[in-house]
Amino acid sequence: MSNTCIVEECLTNAEYLARQENTESNARSYPRSFPFSLKKAKGVWVEDVEGHRYLDFLCGAGALVLGHNDAEVNQAMIDMLSEDLPLQTLDLTTPVKDAFVHTLLSLLPPELQGNSKVQFCSPSGTDAVDAAIKLCKVATGRSSVVAFSGAYHGMGHGALSLTGNLNAKSKISALMPDVHFLPYPYSYRCPFGLGGEAGAQAIGTYFERILKDPESGITRPAAVILEPIQGEGGVIPAPASFLQTVRRVTEELKIPMIVDEIQCGMGRSGCFFAFEHANIVPDVILLSKGIGGSQPLSVVIYDKKLDRWTRGTHAGTFRGNQLAMRAGTVVMNRISQPEFLAEVREKGQWLLTHLLELQSKVNILGDVRGKGLMLGCEFVDPRQPRDTMGHFPASREIASKIQQYCFEHKLIIECGGRNSAVLRCLCALNVPMEDVAKMFEIFEAAVMKVHFDVTN
Ligand SMILES: Cc1ncc(COP(=O)(O)O)c(C=O)c1O
Repeated sequence: MSNTCIVEECLTNAEYLARQENTESNARSYPRSFPFSLKKAKGVWVEDVEGHRYLDFLCGAGALVLGHNDAEVNQAMIDMLSEDLPLQTLDLTTPVKDAFVHTLLSLLPPELQGNSKVQFCSPSGTDAVDAAIKLCKVATGRSSVVAFSGAYHGMGHGALSLTGNLNAKSKISALMPDVHFLPYPYSYRCPFGLGGEAGAQAIGTYFERILKDPESGITRPAAVILEPIQGEGGVIPAPASFLQTVRRVTEELKIPMIVDEIQCGMGRSGCFFAFEHANIVPDVILLSKGIGGSQPLSVVIYDKKLDRWTRGTHAGTFRGNQLAMRAGTVVMNRISQPEFLAEVREKGQWLLTHLLELQSKVNILGDVRGKGLMLGCEFVDPRQPRDTMGHFPASREIASKIQQYCFEHKLIIECGGRNSAVLRCLCALNVPMEDVAKMFEIFEAAVMKVHFDVTN
C-alpha cells in the first residue's frame, strides 16, 4: 500500500511510461503520440505529473462532451454516492434509469417518439453495434449486412467486421461473414473520381442499383449501418442527399437503417443527432461516448416494430450503470438546449473558417471538412504526384509532425483517418471561445512550420 502511494506521488512522465510499457499490452496507441502521464483534468485542460498544462482537443476521443470534471455532472454523481443509491442494477428499473430513458426518448424525432424502445448494452460503443446487428437479424430473419468503406464501428468481433480499416482487421481470421462494403461519399477522394454532389449522386445511384439488382450477389440485408459523419475514417460528412437516398431505398426494401451516432451524435455536429441535418428518420440509433456523461454507457434506440427479441435474447452484466445514467441525463439536458447547440455551430464555423484560410496559405493541407465541432484536416504530400482528381496523396508523416509540434506546444489533438493523415477536432462542446482561438494559434504555427520544412 505504501509503495502505491510513493509511486503515485513521485514519478516523472518518462518513468510512468516505462512502467506502462512493461505492464500494458503492445496495443497501446495514445501514449505513443502523447508520451505523458496525466494527473489532473478540468474542462478542456489537463495537467501531467510534471505540472505541464495541455489544451485537450481529444477529450477522451470525444466522450467528454462537457469536458473533464464538469461541476454539475460531478455533483449529480456525488449526490448519488452519498444517498446510497444502487450503482449497478443489471436491467432492473430505477428512478434514475427511468429519468434517463424518458429524457433520451424525448429528444428523438417526433416520428420515433412513443414508438421506440431502448436496449442498454455493456458499456462501450462496440457492444451497441453488436446488439443492433443481432436485433436486426432477429427482426428480419436475414443474415447479410451492408456497411461502408471508411466506416468505424468498434473493435469487438462483430463491429470490427463492419469496420473498413484493414490494418485493424487483416490479422483477425473468420470475422462475421456476409458483410458487404459499399462506397461512402468521400468527396475529396471520391471512389468514382467525381467528388462533390455529382459524386454523392453517383454513389447513391450505385447503392440503389446494387440493393435492387437481383444478380448483385448480396442477399436482402438484415441491416444497412452507417455513420452520418464518418469519424475514424477521417471526418467525412455524408451529404444530406446521400443519406436521404439510403433512407428512401432501405424503407422501400424494408431494410432496417442503423445510424451509428456514437461519435457524431450528442450535439457534436451542431444538432443533437447528426442525421437531423438530412431530415431523415432512421430505424435504429446507436449512442455511446457522451451519453454516459463521462461514465461508460451505450444504448440502442430502435423502432418498436423491430422488437422481436424474447427474454434474454440480449444481456450484459454492466448494462445497468446508474452513475452513467444520472450523469448522462445531466449532459442530455444541457446539450439539447437550442442555445447550446447554436454555440456549437458558431464555434465550429469560426474554426472552420480559420482552417480554410490557413489551407489557402499552404500546400500541405489538402482538405478541411466537417460539421459543428467535428472537424478534420487532411494533410497531403506536395512532393508526390497528384492523383486523377488532382490531389496529392495523403501524408501520415506530415500529419504526425504537426501533431508532434502541437503536443510540444501543449495542444493535444487526435490524428486518424485513412493513412493517419487527418488531424481531428474532438474537443468538449462547451469549450470557451478563447480556447478555440488558442487551439487555432498553436495549430496554425504547427502547420506553417511543417509547411516551411517540407517546401524548403
Ligand atoms: C462511430 C463509432 N462507432 C463505434 C465506436 C466504438 O466505440 P467504443 O470504442 O466505445 O467501443 C466508435 C469509437 O470511436 C465510433 O467512433
